[in-house]
Amino acid sequence: MYKLNKKCIIAIDGGAGVGKTTVSKYLSKSLNILYIDTGAMYRAAALYFIQKNIDITDENIDKYFNDVDVNLKIKDGENIVLLNNKDVTKLIRTEEVSMGASDISKNSYVRKKLVEKQRKIAGKESVVIEGRDTTTVVFPNADIKIFLTSHIDTRAQRRYNDLINAKNKVNFEYVKEDMIKRDIQDSTRKDSPLVKAKDAIEIDTTGNDVKKTGNIILDIINEKVGLSKI
Ligand code: DC
Repeated sequence: MYKLNKKCIIAIDGGAGVGKTTVSKYLSKSLNILYIDTGAMYRAAALYFIQKNIDITDENIDKYFNDVDVNLKIKDGENIVLLNNKDVTKLIRTEEVSMGASDISKNSYVRKKLVEKQRKIAGKESVVIEGRDTTTVVFPNADIKIFLTSHIDTRAQRRYNDLINAKNKVNFEYVKEDMIKRDIQDSTRKDSPLVKAKDAIEIDTTGNDVKKTGNIILDIINEKVGLSKI
């Protein structure tokens, strides 16, 4: 365990399956600071519209969005995702919701509302926040900005393993195709596309386990803001 020598915002961006979530959880545990999974928030918002059978790509989706309350909580040391106060942590980890989240994330009103919420959850404490736009839009002045990349086969394999572990029936090639489609959609959308911030440090996680990538980032944090061992 380490202690940050000063208040610090650590923002981690990158595409699907690069290891953002596992490494962010590792950092949050190692530093005992809050963790915000912004992708989970887009997923929960998408789930609302899937459950209500409302077309996510409908440009007028704004008018329904005031009925959508997405929140993140920590319960028994685990990160819980709430949609209108219901625990949807497991329900949001399907391929349908992945694609729905990518679709809904194109909507500027939805983005504006979720970014406001993310900044509010972060408050004034140290935080590790991960997503597609946390280094560019949510916290462009973050103390530490990391952009993770990985070989497409490694990324697809990670996502496939996650889905299988969550008891989804999926096919590897299908997961890989979906991932490529989602990458294109996320990096070409008009509002807050997935791009590497100029001042973000790029780390290729291909072949790394979480500890290796996590420790590379801890070294960067130590160099930039200072860490004390506790
Ligand atoms: O990281 P993830 O796979 O849980 O994200 C799901 C989708 O949500 C992703 O394809 C695009 C969208 N997203 C976004 O637009 N901005 C973020 N900060 C996080 C996710």
